[in-house]
Amino acid sequence: MSKKIPTQYVWLDNRMVKAEDAKVPIMTHSLQYGSGIFEGIRAYETDNGVAVFRLDEHVRRFMNSMKIHAMNCGYTERQLKEAILDVIRKDGLGACYIRPFAFYNDDSIGLSTSGKKVSVFVAARPFGKYFAKQTGIRCKVSSWNRINSSILPVEAKASGNYLNSIIASMEAKRLGFDEAILLSQNGYVAEGPGENIFLVRDNVLLTPDKGSDILRGITRDSLIKLAESIGIEVQERQVHREELYTADELFFSGTAAELTSITEVDGIKVGNGAVGPITKMLAQAFDDVVHGRNTDFGGWLTHV
Ligand SMILES: Cc1ncc(COP(=O)(O)O)c(C=O)c1O
Repeated sequence: MSKKIPTQYVWLDNRMVKAEDAKVPIMTHSLQYGSGIFEGIRAYETDNGVAVFRLDEHVRRFMNSMKIHAMNCGYTERQLKEAILDVIRKDGLGACYIRPFAFYNDDSIGLSTSGKKVSVFVAARPFGKYFAKQTGIRCKVSSWNRINSSILPVEAKASGNYLNSIIASMEAKRLGFDEAILLSQNGYVAEGPGENIFLVRDNVLLTPDKGSDILRGITRDSLIKLAESIGIEVQERQVHREELYTADELFFSGTAAELTSITEVDGIKVGNGAVGPITKMLAQAFDDVVHGRNTDFGGWLTHV
């Protein structure tokens, strides 16, 4: 992942420029105040070339995140989708992670965003597994609660929100865990710092509902639909912290994390401590879809 890569291009304000020429002022509003809006998207190799997974949904969420924060980037969904595909083509990338980012390209001190120029860049990088450990990670329920919509809009992928994710994740890592699990302010399970969470109990797939202050992930939605298509019952509801300890299986889902099994929470082994059968089945089903081997969900792929 830290491998040196050749010249990269980024799409910046409707122009394809070399990454090293894509410059912004050091005082950029979004750098100072975390006012950027972003997406995280993956493209995968398929037998018919590289394909972006659920491009429409990611670009729709990007637009909605901007709308929530009253930011107008001036581009249509169609233009942004083309920009994403163009960057992958220009960089000659195979499987990769794509980062569209909208920000206030303005170097004044004030907080106000009115009248400030909005810029958008789209960059892409080769990207492997987010969690190196594929045999299950060890998580800690964070001492930090997940933000909620009375504080900041949880459904917007806004840079500032991620300080909440970062502080929880860093605490967990400092204490020797692989990742954090955040509870909502009322004590129910919300999600990981950049992942949704699923439990398996008695062959039923459970996941915190939208009232649990989660970002409704596109991977989460994909897994719910995939599970239903293979006859697994799915329940979206509030989840108690202790249900994490007594679940048969537990896993994170997300664009970066894909499906990552969690085999220990707060030092308590989940199930028998190994990656569970339903997790494995869904991970395989997801892998088949993203690599174009399951044509039933071919509509989720946009070929580059
Ligand atoms: C806070 C948070 N929750 C959940 C997710 C998973 O969402 P998705 O599956 O759309 O990547 C992400 C990643 O975007 C996230 O940042």
